[in-house]
Amino acid sequence: MITIAAVQFEPAYRNPPENIRRIETLLDGVDADLIVLPELFSTGYFFRTADEIRDLAEPLSGGASTEWLQTFSDAKGSVVVAGFAEQDGDRIFNSAAILRPGGEKKVYRKTHLFYREKDVFAPGDTGFEVIDCHSRNGIHFRLGTMICFDWYFPEAARSLALLGADVIAHPSNLVRKDCPRSMPIRALENHVFTITSNRTGSDVNAEETLTFIGKSLICDPKGDILASAGPDESVVLMAEIDPHTARHRAINATNDLFADRRPDMYTALK
Ligand code: ACM
Repeated sequence: MITIAAVQFEPAYRNPPENIRRIETLLDGVDADLIVLPELFSTGYFFRTADEIRDLAEPLSGGASTEWLQTFSDAKGSVVVAGFAEQDGDRIFNSAAILRPGGEKKVYRKTHLFYREKDVFAPGDTGFEVIDCHSRNGIHFRLGTMICFDWYFPEAARSLALLGADVIAHPSNLVRKDCPRSMPIRALENHVFTITSNRTGSDVNAEETLTFIGKSLICDPKGDILASAGPDESVVLMAEIDPHTARHRAINATNDLFADRRPDMYTALK
């Protein structure tokens, strides 16, 4: 069994040191093999131009938040997935850093940009990838990552499942109410564990306010909800899972969710 955790909190807008303090406080005494933080956890979410976030964006290696994440992962012995604003040359991506204790840093860049994000971030170019991870006591699990609005495109979770993900980390800053009722279905149809870590509170930018819905949740491959949060609380959701149960996709004596797929019939998806 491995222990997985979803962190839900209210980030302070444009204040990475304060957000790191909030995460440290929430995770004080928490032991988990995999910890997922929200999208853009260190900066807040609502920016309308790339120039508004440029001074907060950081490279995967050598950034203040990403180096703190690696140190935190090393100290806890936990795999950590966290959303951050990634600077790569002139481009800024809405990214998730994936940190493994003592391991090479990996990044996923958000594929489906939501609303004003299209004026801020470059479209993600990493595609979907599944990464080999280990729990503190050596259990191997395969981790896929997608970010927030990617949930609305079933191809994202499907791609990760077809690549062999046992668990999908899903850092989020959700504003639409539909995701918490959709994630159990993403988990069920792909027979994977999902960890949606959302934020609470609001970001105000000029004349517009975005309010985030909380309601983080962890789902199992049967589509059951293992843990869920309310709309406003700062909380760490935890679950004990056997990640290898995600690998058995037979649903009865004759049907297997992946072996029964008919890609030759899905030509419209190309
Ligand atoms: C979103 O993708 N942050 C809604």
